[in-house]
Amino acid sequence: MITKQFAGKVALVTGASQGIGAATARLFAQAGAAGVLASRNEEELARLMEEIKASGGEAMAVKTDVADAASVERLVRRAVETYGRLDIAVNNAGIGGGNMPLVKVSNERWMSDEQTRQRITGGIPMGHLADPSEIAEAIFWLCSDAASYVTGVTLPVDGGYVVP
Ligand SMILES: NC(=O)c1ccc[n+]([C@@H]2O[C@H](COP(=O)([O-])OP(=O)(O)OC[C@H]3O[C@@H](n4cnc5c(N)ncnc54)[C@H](OP(=O)(O)O)[C@@H]3O)[C@@H](O)[C@H]2O)c1
Repeated sequence: MITKQFAGKVALVTGASQGIGAATARLFAQAGAAGVLASRNEEELARLMEEIKASGGEAMAVKTDVADAASVERLVRRAVETYGRLDIAVNNAGIGGGNMPLVKVSNERWMSDEQTRQRITGGIPMGHLADPSEIAEAIFWLCSDAASYVTGVTLPVDGGYVVP
């Protein structure tokens, strides 16, 4: 059960429109934090913001491109203007999944290649890819007082992929 351990705190999550970012933003909202939801997709951000508010939480959505410094500065400024503080920044936005120049990734291969998916899953001792909520739980813990003596650690949350 999640307590309101983040009540009065403000948590900014980039890449909050889907996946790990959205799952993380939900956890912080359940724990009482005001969420600053950022990504390029305004529609999905608005959907999550409404979901959080409907559950009694607090959130704002800010369309942001993290590849644009001015956009990120605007994001932080709006967060502080709105809530007067910023306690947590989950810098989650990003893309992955291809060791090749982006322009060479074909439509067929992009973020849905079944062969690659099976190869990766085959190397995970736990035998399945993570649900976004499983990653969100680790992020949440790292940002909480429960991790008060943890500094600068790289924490594998990978079903044993790196260290079986
Ligand atoms: N899933 C994995 O196995 C895995 C493994 C290692 C690392 N990661 C990393 O963990 C993070 C989240 O992964 P995920 O699986 O949740 O990815 P995802 O479902 O593809 O979501 C990526 C998020 O990043 C946002 N984003 C991408 N480029 C952005 C930009 N320029 N500005 C603002 N937002 C941007 C996207 O939002 P918009 O499109 O709306 O902008 C989306 O919300 C990523 O950084 C990923 O590289 C994931």
